[in-house]
Amino acid sequence: MKILAFETTCDETSAAVLEGRSLRSNTVFSQIKLHRKYSGVVPELASRAHLEKIPFVLGGALRRAGIGVPLKAGAFDAVAFSRGPGLPGALMVGRVAAEAAAELSGAPLIGVNHLEGHLLACEFEKGRVARPLKFPLLVLIVSGGHTELWHARGYGDYKVLGRTRDDAAGEAFDKVAKLLGLPYPGGPEVEKEAARAKGKGPDFPRPFMPGTRDFSFSGLKTAVSYYLAAKLGQDFYKKGLRLPASEIALVCRSFQDAAVETLVKKTADAARSLGLKRIAVGGGVSANGALRSAFARLEDLETRFSERAYCSDNAAMVALCALRRLEAGKFRNSLRVEPDLGSAGWAG
Ligand SMILES: Nc1ncnc2c1ncn2[C@@H]1O[C@H](COP(=O)(O)OP(=O)(O)OP(=O)(O)O)[C@@H](O)[C@H]1O
Ligand SMILES: [Mg+2]
Repeated sequence: MKILAFETTCDETSAAVLEGRSLRSNTVFSQIKLHRKYSGVVPELASRAHLEKIPFVLGGALRRAGIGVPLKAGAFDAVAFSRGPGLPGALMVGRVAAEAAAELSGAPLIGVNHLEGHLLACEFEKGRVARPLKFPLLVLIVSGGHTELWHARGYGDYKVLGRTRDDAAGEAFDKVAKLLGLPYPGGPEVEKEAARAKGKGPDFPRPFMPGTRDFSFSGLKTAVSYYLAAKLGQDFYKKGLRLPASEIALVCRSFQDAAVETLVKKTADAARSLGLKRIAVGGGVSANGALRSAFARLEDLETRFSERAYCSDNAAMVALCALRRLEAGKFRNSLRVEPDLGSAGWAG
Protein backbone atom coordinates (compact mmCIF):
# COMPACT_ATOMS: atom_id res chain seq x y z
CA MET A 1 0.00 0.00 0.00
CA LYS A 2 1.56 3.27 -1.12
CA ILE A 3 0.06 6.58 0.02
CA LEU A 4 0.99 10.13 -0.98
CA ALA A 5 -0.19 12.79 1.50
CA PHE A 6 -0.35 16.58 1.73
CA GLU A 7 -0.59 18.89 4.73
CA THR A 8 -1.33 22.62 4.33
CA THR A 9 -3.72 23.54 7.16
CA CYS A 10 -1.72 26.39 8.63
CA ASP A 11 1.94 27.40 8.26
CA GLU A 12 3.69 24.18 7.28
CA THR A 13 3.72 22.92 3.71
CA SER A 14 4.34 19.21 3.77
CA ALA A 15 4.19 16.12 1.55
CA ALA A 16 4.91 12.53 2.56
CA VAL A 17 5.01 9.04 1.11
CA LEU A 18 4.06 6.09 3.30
CA GLU A 19 4.72 2.64 1.88
CA GLY A 20 3.29 -0.20 3.94
CA ARG A 21 4.41 0.63 7.48
CA SER A 22 7.48 2.61 6.36
CA LEU A 23 7.65 6.32 5.96
CA ARG A 24 9.60 6.78 2.74
CA SER A 25 9.65 10.59 2.95
CA ASN A 26 8.17 13.47 4.92
CA THR A 27 9.19 16.85 3.53
CA VAL A 28 8.19 19.89 5.59
CA PHE A 29 8.64 23.53 4.72
CA SER A 30 7.94 25.75 7.72
CA GLN A 31 6.76 29.33 7.16
CA ILE A 32 7.81 30.45 10.65
CA LYS A 33 10.30 33.04 9.37
CA LEU A 34 7.64 34.58 7.13
CA HIS A 35 5.15 35.07 9.97
CA ARG A 36 7.59 35.90 12.76
CA LYS A 37 7.55 39.65 12.22
CA TYR A 38 3.76 39.65 12.70
CA SER A 39 3.98 37.47 15.87
CA GLY A 40 1.41 35.10 14.40
CA VAL A 41 0.22 33.46 11.20
CA VAL A 42 -1.12 35.86 8.52
CA PRO A 43 -3.63 33.75 6.53
CA GLU A 44 -3.14 35.41 3.14
CA LEU A 45 0.64 35.15 3.37
CA ALA A 46 0.30 31.52 4.44
CA SER A 47 -1.82 30.63 1.38
CA ARG A 48 0.63 32.31 -0.98
CA ALA A 49 3.62 30.62 0.60
CA HIS A 50 1.87 27.21 0.30
CA LEU A 51 1.26 27.91 -3.40
CA GLU A 52 4.86 28.88 -3.92
CA LYS A 53 6.41 25.96 -2.04
CA ILE A 54 4.14 23.02 -2.71
CA PRO A 55 5.72 22.00 -6.05
CA PHE A 56 9.16 21.80 -4.41
CA VAL A 57 7.89 20.10 -1.27
CA LEU A 58 6.10 17.51 -3.40
CA GLY A 59 9.13 17.09 -5.66
CA GLY A 60 11.35 16.55 -2.60
CA ALA A 61 8.97 13.98 -1.10
CA LEU A 62 8.77 12.03 -4.38
CA ARG A 63 12.53 12.10 -4.97
CA ARG A 64 13.32 10.95 -1.44
CA ALA A 65 10.82 8.14 -1.80
CA GLY A 66 12.37 7.12 -5.13
CA ILE A 67 9.17 7.76 -7.07
CA GLY A 68 9.66 8.84 -10.67
CA VAL A 69 8.04 11.89 -12.23
CA PRO A 70 5.82 12.47 -14.08
CA LEU A 71 3.52 10.38 -11.93
CA LYS A 72 2.26 7.27 -13.65
CA ALA A 73 -1.08 5.55 -13.29
CA GLY A 74 -0.85 3.21 -10.32
CA ALA A 75 1.99 5.14 -8.62
CA PHE A 76 -0.13 5.33 -5.45
CA ASP A 77 -2.96 3.36 -3.88
CA ALA A 78 -4.37 6.55 -2.38
CA VAL A 79 -3.68 10.26 -2.19
CA ALA A 80 -4.55 11.98 1.09
CA PHE A 81 -4.80 15.56 2.23
CA SER A 82 -5.81 17.42 5.40
CA ARG A 83 -9.34 18.59 4.67
CA GLY A 84 -9.53 20.65 7.88
CA PRO A 85 -9.70 22.20 10.34
CA GLY A 86 -7.42 24.94 9.08
CA LEU A 87 -7.18 28.21 7.21
CA PRO A 88 -9.56 28.05 4.20
CA GLY A 89 -7.11 29.46 1.64
CA ALA A 90 -4.28 27.27 2.89
CA LEU A 91 -6.48 24.15 2.82
CA MET A 92 -7.36 24.71 -0.82
CA VAL A 93 -3.72 24.55 -1.88
CA GLY A 94 -3.18 21.08 -0.40
CA ARG A 95 -6.48 19.90 -1.73
CA VAL A 96 -5.80 21.00 -5.31
CA ALA A 97 -2.32 19.45 -5.25
CA ALA A 98 -3.81 16.21 -3.92
CA GLU A 99 -6.56 16.23 -6.54
CA ALA A 100 -4.00 16.61 -9.32
CA ALA A 101 -1.86 13.77 -7.93
CA ALA A 102 -4.94 11.56 -7.49
CA GLU A 103 -6.02 12.17 -11.09
CA LEU A 104 -2.56 11.45 -12.47
CA SER A 105 -2.07 8.26 -10.50
CA GLY A 106 -5.67 7.10 -10.80
CA ALA A 107 -5.83 6.75 -7.03
CA PRO A 108 -8.73 7.55 -4.70
CA LEU A 109 -8.50 10.89 -2.90
CA ILE A 110 -8.96 10.73 0.87
CA GLY A 111 -9.60 13.92 2.87
CA VAL A 112 -8.58 13.37 6.49
CA ASN A 113 -9.06 15.31 9.67
CA HIS A 114 -5.94 17.21 10.68
CA LEU A 115 -6.57 16.72 14.41
CA GLU A 116 -6.86 12.97 13.97
CA GLY A 117 -3.45 13.32 12.32
CA HIS A 118 -2.05 14.87 15.50
CA LEU A 119 -3.36 11.83 17.42
CA LEU A 120 -2.10 9.15 15.02
CA ALA A 121 1.35 10.81 14.90
CA CYS A 122 1.87 8.93 18.21
CA GLU A 123 2.13 5.69 16.20
CA PHE A 124 5.39 6.55 14.43
CA GLU A 125 8.69 5.28 15.76
CA LYS A 126 11.90 5.90 13.86
CA GLY A 127 10.07 6.38 10.57
CA ARG A 128 7.81 3.35 10.90
CA VAL A 129 4.24 2.82 12.00
CA ALA A 130 5.50 0.75 14.90
CA ARG A 131 3.44 1.69 17.95
CA PRO A 132 -0.27 1.18 17.19
CA LEU A 133 -2.61 2.90 19.61
CA LYS A 134 -4.53 0.70 22.02
CA PHE A 135 -8.17 1.65 22.34
CA PRO A 136 -10.17 2.79 24.21
CA LEU A 137 -8.24 5.84 25.32
CA LEU A 138 -8.58 9.44 26.33
CA VAL A 139 -7.12 11.88 23.80
CA LEU A 140 -5.82 15.36 24.50
CA ILE A 141 -5.17 17.49 21.41
CA VAL A 142 -3.10 20.56 22.27
CA SER A 143 -2.09 22.61 19.27
CA GLY A 144 -1.94 26.16 17.98
CA GLY A 145 -5.65 26.27 17.18
CA HIS A 146 -7.20 23.53 19.35
CA THR A 147 -7.44 22.17 22.85
CA GLU A 148 -9.76 19.15 22.84
CA LEU A 149 -10.52 16.07 24.90
CA TRP A 150 -11.85 13.02 23.04
CA HIS A 151 -13.01 9.61 24.12
CA ALA A 152 -11.46 7.44 21.40
CA ARG A 153 -13.07 4.01 21.03
CA GLY A 154 -11.28 3.00 17.84
CA TYR A 155 -9.83 4.56 14.71
CA GLY A 156 -12.28 7.18 13.47
CA ASP A 157 -14.55 6.70 16.49
CA TYR A 158 -13.99 9.83 18.52
CA LYS A 159 -16.42 11.52 20.85
CA VAL A 160 -15.51 15.11 21.67
CA LEU A 161 -15.82 15.60 25.45
CA GLY A 162 -14.58 19.15 25.70
CA ARG A 163 -12.85 21.88 23.78
CA THR A 164 -11.55 25.36 24.36
CA ARG A 165 -14.06 28.15 24.75
CA ASP A 166 -11.54 30.81 23.76
CA ASP A 167 -7.76 30.55 23.25
CA ALA A 168 -6.16 27.22 22.44
CA ALA A 169 -3.27 26.12 24.65
CA GLY A 170 -0.68 26.84 21.95
CA GLU A 171 -2.25 30.21 21.26
CA ALA A 172 -1.95 31.08 24.97
CA PHE A 173 1.76 30.16 24.91
CA ASP A 174 2.20 32.30 21.78
CA LYS A 175 0.34 35.30 23.20
CA VAL A 176 2.14 35.20 26.55
CA ALA A 177 5.45 35.00 24.70
CA LYS A 178 4.44 38.03 22.65
CA LEU A 179 3.60 40.02 25.81
CA LEU A 180 7.05 39.16 27.14
CA GLY A 181 8.76 40.22 23.91
CA LEU A 182 9.75 36.65 22.93
CA PRO A 183 9.66 35.56 19.26
CA TYR A 184 6.92 33.55 17.50
CA PRO A 185 6.12 30.71 17.90
CA GLY A 186 6.09 31.29 21.63
CA GLY A 187 5.70 27.74 22.96
CA PRO A 188 9.32 26.60 22.57
CA GLU A 189 10.57 30.02 23.75
CA VAL A 190 8.45 29.92 26.91
CA GLU A 191 9.68 26.40 27.63
CA LYS A 192 13.32 27.46 27.18
CA GLU A 193 12.89 30.51 29.43
CA ALA A 194 11.01 28.51 32.08
CA ALA A 195 13.92 26.07 32.31
CA ARG A 196 16.20 28.97 33.30
CA ALA A 197 13.95 30.30 36.09
CA LYS A 198 15.46 30.55 39.56
CA GLY A 199 13.47 31.39 42.71
CA LYS A 200 9.78 31.94 43.25
CA GLY A 201 7.69 33.40 40.45
CA PRO A 202 4.20 34.93 40.45
CA ASP A 203 1.14 32.78 41.17
CA PHE A 204 -1.22 32.55 38.20
CA PRO A 205 -4.70 31.01 38.34
CA ARG A 206 -5.42 27.44 37.18
CA PRO A 207 -8.53 27.58 34.95
CA PHE A 208 -9.88 24.16 35.98
CA MET A 209 -13.52 25.10 35.27
CA PRO A 210 -15.16 22.40 37.42
CA GLY A 211 -18.32 20.88 36.03
CA THR A 212 -17.25 21.00 32.39
CA ARG A 213 -14.56 19.33 30.30
CA ASP A 214 -14.15 22.48 28.25
CA PHE A 215 -11.03 24.60 28.57
CA SER A 216 -10.46 28.34 28.79
CA PHE A 217 -7.00 29.87 28.65
CA SER A 218 -7.78 33.51 27.95
CA GLY A 219 -8.12 34.34 31.67
CA LEU A 220 -4.67 32.91 32.36
CA LYS A 221 -3.23 34.99 29.51
CA THR A 222 -5.00 38.07 30.92
CA ALA A 223 -3.57 37.33 34.39
CA VAL A 224 -0.07 37.44 32.86
CA SER A 225 -0.94 40.69 31.09
CA TYR A 226 -2.23 42.28 34.37
CA TYR A 227 0.90 41.13 36.16
CA LEU A 228 3.10 42.81 33.53
CA ALA A 229 0.97 45.98 33.57
CA ALA A 230 1.33 46.19 37.37
CA LYS A 231 5.12 45.86 37.06
CA LEU A 232 5.76 47.96 33.94
CA GLY A 233 2.74 50.28 33.60
CA GLN A 234 -0.53 50.07 31.63
CA ASP A 235 0.89 50.69 28.16
CA PHE A 236 3.92 48.48 28.62
CA TYR A 237 3.43 46.56 25.39
CA LYS A 238 2.96 49.59 23.14
CA LYS A 239 5.90 51.34 24.76
CA GLY A 240 8.09 48.29 24.19
CA LEU A 241 8.78 47.87 27.92
CA ARG A 242 9.96 44.39 28.90
CA LEU A 243 10.91 42.66 32.15
CA PRO A 244 14.56 41.88 32.93
CA ALA A 245 15.63 38.43 31.67
CA SER A 246 15.54 36.76 35.12
CA GLU A 247 11.92 37.88 35.65
CA ILE A 248 10.86 36.83 32.15
CA ALA A 249 12.05 33.33 33.05
CA LEU A 250 10.00 33.33 36.27
CA VAL A 251 6.82 34.48 34.48
CA CYS A 252 7.34 31.79 31.83
CA ARG A 253 7.72 29.08 34.45
CA SER A 254 4.68 30.26 36.42
CA PHE A 255 2.55 30.45 33.27
CA GLN A 256 3.76 27.06 32.00
CA ASP A 257 3.11 25.46 35.41
CA ALA A 258 -0.46 26.82 35.42
CA ALA A 259 -1.16 25.71 31.82
CA VAL A 260 0.37 22.25 32.30
CA GLU A 261 -1.38 21.61 35.62
CA THR A 262 -4.71 22.56 34.07
CA LEU A 263 -4.23 20.35 31.00
CA VAL A 264 -3.03 17.35 33.00
CA LYS A 265 -5.68 17.56 35.73
CA LYS A 266 -8.59 17.95 33.32
CA THR A 267 -7.31 15.12 31.12
CA ALA A 268 -6.62 12.76 34.03
CA ASP A 269 -10.01 13.54 35.66
CA ALA A 270 -11.80 12.77 32.39
CA ALA A 271 -9.85 9.50 31.89
CA ARG A 272 -10.54 8.33 35.44
CA SER A 273 -14.23 9.19 35.34
CA LEU A 274 -14.63 7.18 32.13
CA GLY A 275 -12.59 4.30 33.55
CA LEU A 276 -9.90 4.70 30.89
CA LYS A 277 -6.33 3.69 31.67
CA ARG A 278 -4.63 5.15 28.62
CA ILE A 279 -4.08 8.69 27.37
CA ALA A 280 -2.60 9.91 24.08
CA VAL A 281 -1.50 13.52 23.61
CA GLY A 282 -1.01 15.14 20.20
CA GLY A 283 -0.35 18.55 18.63
CA GLY A 284 2.44 21.12 18.79
CA VAL A 285 2.19 21.77 22.54
CA SER A 286 2.74 18.06 23.20
CA ALA A 287 6.44 18.72 22.46
CA ASN A 288 6.60 20.55 25.80
CA GLY A 289 8.90 18.79 28.27
CA ALA A 290 7.08 20.00 31.39
CA LEU A 291 3.79 18.65 30.02
CA ARG A 292 5.41 15.28 29.23
CA SER A 293 6.96 15.03 32.71
CA ALA A 294 3.67 15.95 34.42
CA PHE A 295 1.80 13.19 32.52
CA ALA A 296 4.61 10.74 33.28
CA ARG A 297 4.05 11.35 37.00
CA LEU A 298 0.48 10.01 36.82
CA GLU A 299 1.01 6.54 38.24
CA ASP A 300 -2.40 5.08 37.44
CA LEU A 301 -2.48 6.25 33.80
CA GLU A 302 -0.25 5.44 30.84
CA THR A 303 0.35 8.40 28.52
CA ARG A 304 1.59 8.28 24.93
CA PHE A 305 3.19 11.14 23.02
CA SER A 306 4.49 11.27 19.48
CA GLU A 307 8.21 11.60 18.79
CA ARG A 308 8.96 15.34 18.87
CA ALA A 309 9.55 15.49 15.12
CA TYR A 310 5.88 14.59 14.51
CA CYS A 311 4.27 16.91 17.11
CA SER A 312 3.89 19.87 14.76
CA ASP A 313 2.20 19.74 11.37
CA ASN A 314 3.46 17.15 8.89
CA ALA A 315 2.06 15.08 6.04
CA ALA A 316 3.31 11.78 7.51
CA MET A 317 0.46 11.84 10.02
CA VAL A 318 -2.00 12.61 7.21
CA ALA A 319 -0.81 9.57 5.28
CA LEU A 320 -1.26 7.43 8.38
CA CYS A 321 -4.86 8.61 8.85
CA ALA A 322 -5.54 7.55 5.26
CA LEU A 323 -3.88 4.17 5.88
CA ARG A 324 -6.12 3.50 8.89
CA ARG A 325 -9.19 4.35 6.81
CA LEU A 326 -8.08 2.17 3.91
CA GLU A 327 -7.49 -0.72 6.31
CA ALA A 328 -10.95 -0.24 7.79
CA GLY A 329 -12.46 0.12 4.31
CA LYS A 330 -14.14 3.29 5.55
CA PHE A 331 -13.50 6.02 3.08
CA ARG A 332 -15.05 7.48 0.05
CA ASN A 333 -13.34 9.27 -2.76
CA SER A 334 -13.26 12.90 -1.56
CA LEU A 335 -12.94 14.51 -4.97
CA ARG A 336 -16.15 16.41 -4.51
CA VAL A 337 -16.18 16.81 -0.72
CA GLU A 338 -16.14 20.36 0.63
CA PRO A 339 -13.30 21.41 2.97
CA ASP A 340 -14.26 20.68 6.57
CA LEU A 341 -13.40 23.36 9.11
CA GLY A 342 -14.75 21.50 12.14
CA SER A 343 -15.59 17.93 13.08
CA ALA A 344 -13.20 15.27 14.33
CA GLY A 345 -14.65 12.02 12.98
CA TRP A 346 -14.43 10.25 9.62
CA ALA A 347 -16.94 12.47 7.84
CA GLY A 348 -15.38 13.02 4.42
N1 LIG B 1 7.74 23.11 23.39
C1 LIG B 1 6.55 23.68 23.27
N2 LIG B 1 5.85 24.06 24.38
C2 LIG B 1 4.64 24.65 24.27
N3 LIG B 1 4.04 24.91 23.10
C3 LIG B 1 4.69 24.55 21.97
C4 LIG B 1 5.96 23.91 22.00
N4 LIG B 1 6.35 23.67 20.72
C5 LIG B 1 5.35 24.15 19.92
N5 LIG B 1 4.37 24.68 20.67
C6 LIG B 1 3.15 25.34 20.20
O1 LIG B 1 2.47 24.50 19.32
C7 LIG B 1 1.68 25.30 18.43
C8 LIG B 1 1.83 24.77 17.03
O2 LIG B 1 1.30 23.47 17.01
P1 LIG B 1 0.61 22.86 15.73
O3 LIG B 1 1.55 22.98 14.60
O4 LIG B 1 0.12 21.53 16.10
O5 LIG B 1 -0.59 23.87 15.63
P2 LIG B 1 -1.40 24.31 14.37
O6 LIG B 1 -1.26 23.28 13.32
O7 LIG B 1 -0.99 25.71 14.07
O8 LIG B 1 -2.89 24.30 14.92
P3 LIG B 1 -4.00 23.16 14.71
O9 LIG B 1 -3.30 21.86 14.69
O10 LIG B 1 -4.88 23.36 15.87
O11 LIG B 1 -4.64 23.48 13.42
C9 LIG B 1 2.17 26.72 18.57
O12 LIG B 1 1.21 27.44 19.30
C10 LIG B 1 3.46 26.57 19.37
O13 LIG B 1 3.78 27.68 20.19
MG1 LIG C 1 -1.66 21.33 13.60
